[in-house]
Amino acid sequence: MEIYKTVQSLQKFVQKQKDDGLTVGFVPTMGALHEGHLSLIRLSQATCDRTICSIFVNPTQFDDPSDLEKYPRPVERDIAMLESENCHALFLPSVKEVYPDSLEATESYDFGFLEKPMEGAHRTGHFDGVAQVVNRLLEIVQATHLFMGQKDYQQFKIIDRLIELTQRPVQLVRCPIIREEDGLAMSSRNVRLNPEARAKAVHISQTLRKIKAGFGHKSIIELKKWGFEQLEQVDGMSVDYFEIVDADTLQNIDDVSESQQVIACVAVRVGGIRLIDNMLLKVH
Ligand code: PAF
Repeated sequence: MEIYKTVQSLQKFVQKQKDDGLTVGFVPTMGALHEGHLSLIRLSQATCDRTICSIFVNPTQFDDPSDLEKYPRPVERDIAMLESENCHALFLPSVKEVYPDSLEATESYDFGFLEKPMEGAHRTGHFDGVAQVVNRLLEIVQATHLFMGQKDYQQFKIIDRLIELTQRPVQLVRCPIIREEDGLAMSSRNVRLNPEARAKAVHISQTLRKIKAGFGHKSIIELKKWGFEQLEQVDGMSVDYFEIVDADTLQNIDDVSESQQVIACVAVRVGGIRLIDNMLLKVH
């Protein structure tokens, strides 16, 4: 695997692939890779001729400086994992390389309601930072395909809209959530859970599964209330939100017949770690 630390060297590599008529899949990450990331790499490998992964802990998407500081950075381990997947190239830039002038965003985007609820309401400025870095990375990498996980569902919707707004010629591919054996959605944050919090975290996916089983039998209001209470009553767990929304617009719905696609989204804090998860309840 080639490792590029500068924009110029990476762009030279990408240009060569494109000149050869090859498709280029891009998997942006913040490192601390796990099976979830590797599933994105594998999907890219299966879809595209070349796969580029980036590892960049983007400072502009953290609203909490201690979260940024504590973000795990096991780079050597990440490189070994990418090599074992035969990833073609890793982009490993410094902050200066990604933001040569300043961390201030030069563009701002109107994502409408998509950025308002859930993560948008609980993490001020988070999606501005995500949009800023993904736009910059797409500008640098010039990939033909972009692979992003359903785990960060609202982020996925924001990036989908970003691509539409900027009219970048890149195809966005949504990759399914990968779960631990007990159902916990894989996340780089899971390694920071102490054993007690890790045991409690299993309630998140269990609750989502039960909500899915109850979907269509109980009202949305009842399901939301039940889901919230189930998690809130786990000792030491606090719920930031438990929403059941239209999976396209992220708007609240009262009646399931109003929407073609419905999703349940949740964020909790347990043992000092914030975890998110979601489950599609209705797909068309
Ligand atoms: O989902 C992530 O890991 C990050 O938000 C992303 C898309 C790599 C941007 O920093």
